[in-house]
Amino acid sequence: SWRLGDFADAAIAQIRATVGDKRVICGLSGGVDSSVVAALLYKAIGTQLSCILVDNGMLRKNEQRIVIDEFSNHFKADLHVVDAEDQFLDDLAGVEEPQEKRRRIGYAFIECFKAEAEKIEDAHFLAQGTLYPDVIESGADKDGPAATIKLHHNVGGLPDELGFELIEPLRDLFKDEVRRLGIELGLPEQLVWRHPFPGPGLAVRCLGEVTREKLVVLREADAIVVEEIENAGLYRETSQAFAVLLPVQSVGVMGDARTYDNAVAVRCVNTDDFMTADWSHLPYDLLARISTRIINEVKGVNRVCYDISSKPPATIEWE
Ligand code: XMP
Repeated sequence: SWRLGDFADAAIAQIRATVGDKRVICGLSGGVDSSVVAALLYKAIGTQLSCILVDNGMLRKNEQRIVIDEFSNHFKADLHVVDAEDQFLDDLAGVEEPQEKRRRIGYAFIECFKAEAEKIEDAHFLAQGTLYPDVIESGADKDGPAATIKLHHNVGGLPDELGFELIEPLRDLFKDEVRRLGIELGLPEQLVWRHPFPGPGLAVRCLGEVTREKLVVLREADAIVVEEIENAGLYRETSQAFAVLLPVQSVGVMGDARTYDNAVAVRCVNTDDFMTADWSHLPYDLLARISTRIINEVKGVNRVCYDISSKPPATIEWE
């Protein structure tokens, strides 16, 4: 669209004027917003951009590869991948309480990001994918009750103490505009249309204590949910679709043996604003395929449930 074309040109000019010959750091998460910021910056300043992906071990299947393909292989951006799964899992060991999980992940993220950023010697600016709704929300959140409902570590998540000057080129845009801008900048549809994914990642979908073994199960189940919804042509009209690994074992039969294995919940919602949401009324045959594939293909799962709760009173995530 012409308007976003103008926006991109104006944003690029402004970034160049602000940045001059200095270096900009940008955190990549695999999500839409950070990808669009990075693509915009790459277009504006090329090799003056350094991207950092902290792989916290809680990413979706293939997420690290998708980011590397896009930003290192396609755009030749300077990309630093921090493999920090061990650190995050150590920090989460024995922790079951959801907010405490978020808190620890938030701290570990800042630590890892900071350590990597300090290696980039001449870094001056930090780019963030703050959107217009984030600006409003974080203002309203400052002391209000909304702040205590859930800690969202990606909003203002990197503290001032890092000492960088902040640039937020998307802060006037809504999500749909960010997606259109992403396409305009040449990002693949698959990346631009990805469902939102929480900063703490699979950790809040792996109920209770997070372990490497549970993450393997959850990641596989989750990939099947997404793949089947894509195959049914329903991915875009679904706002979020994912698997949740329940801290529950149940009895099943396999051949003539009794099993006592994990249960997975499938959560799919439709929403305009993520403040309220309805569960997606997916076709039964799609649900059947998802269930059959998860039980057949994911070792350690013998039961699949579909979450038919709306928000409120349930939330979209289970933790
Ligand atoms: P809930 O579960 O509160 O989720 O209905 C609303 C939206 O926010 C996402 N979400 C998070 N995003 N850090 C994030 O960056 C978080 O800790 C977090 N918790 C929930 C959730 O995926 C949904 O899109």
